[in-house]
Amino acid sequence: MRVFRFDEIDSTNKFLKEQNNLQDYDCVIAKTQTAGVGRRGNVWVSNEGMAIFSFALKEAENISLEEYMRLPLIAGISVLSGLKKIEDLDYKFKWTNDIYLDDKKLCGILVEKTKDFFIIGIGININNSDFGYAQDRAISLKNKTGNFYRIEDIIFCIINEFKRYFSEDWSFVLKEINSYNYLKDKEIEIVKYGESLGVGVAKDIAEDGRLIVEIDGQEKLFNIGEIHIRK
Ligand code: BTN
Repeated sequence: MRVFRFDEIDSTNKFLKEQNNLQDYDCVIAKTQTAGVGRRGNVWVSNEGMAIFSFALKEAENISLEEYMRLPLIAGISVLSGLKKIEDLDYKFKWTNDIYLDDKKLCGILVEKTKDFFIIGIGININNSDFGYAQDRAISLKNKTGNFYRIEDIIFCIINEFKRYFSEDWSFVLKEINSYNYLKDKEIEIVKYGESLGVGVAKDIAEDGRLIVEIDGQEKLFNIGEIHIRK
């Protein structure tokens, strides 16, 4: 595991994707990004004071693709648990892998695949209070507590949590994820490829990582990455 540090970079995920001698758990940390990438190709506002980092996970032959589909969820619970160790607040896990605090977004995660590595990119609002276009929908730890945090301590704590959860029994991890389920019992609109599939009530996250939604009295399962949710 190597640690690469930058004051400014285009994107920490892109940096790792471009390396051709990656090692397991290589990690890149940046103070700011000029071209931070979010899910669905969104721009990720990357201001100083955030924890901005990515790490690489080598694909192993004995782990199935099905198990790798859980990575966004495992990364999410690792952030939540790591943050709890630093500041014990009422964080929520918003399927598939956002962390919320006081109904606002605290952290976003982007998992990508390159050759035989998965790249796990994480952005957390820590000491910053400028969230760009997401100003009304985001929150930082410092906003909430008034405290100032050592960003690298948080990053390494989260990577350690990830190593722990990744080797844990999945049903134990899923149970924990479900105990922080932000969407549970909320009315949500399911949107697939820009088209509304209707309005339903979110339930638990299922064994295979899909979200259970009750629509017109029937439980339906929705895939990671296939849908997005409008409240
Ligand atoms: C999202 O919620 O849309 C995911 C945001 C992921 C942002 C992080 S910041 C570190 C890493 N580098 C990137 O370019 N993106 C991820």
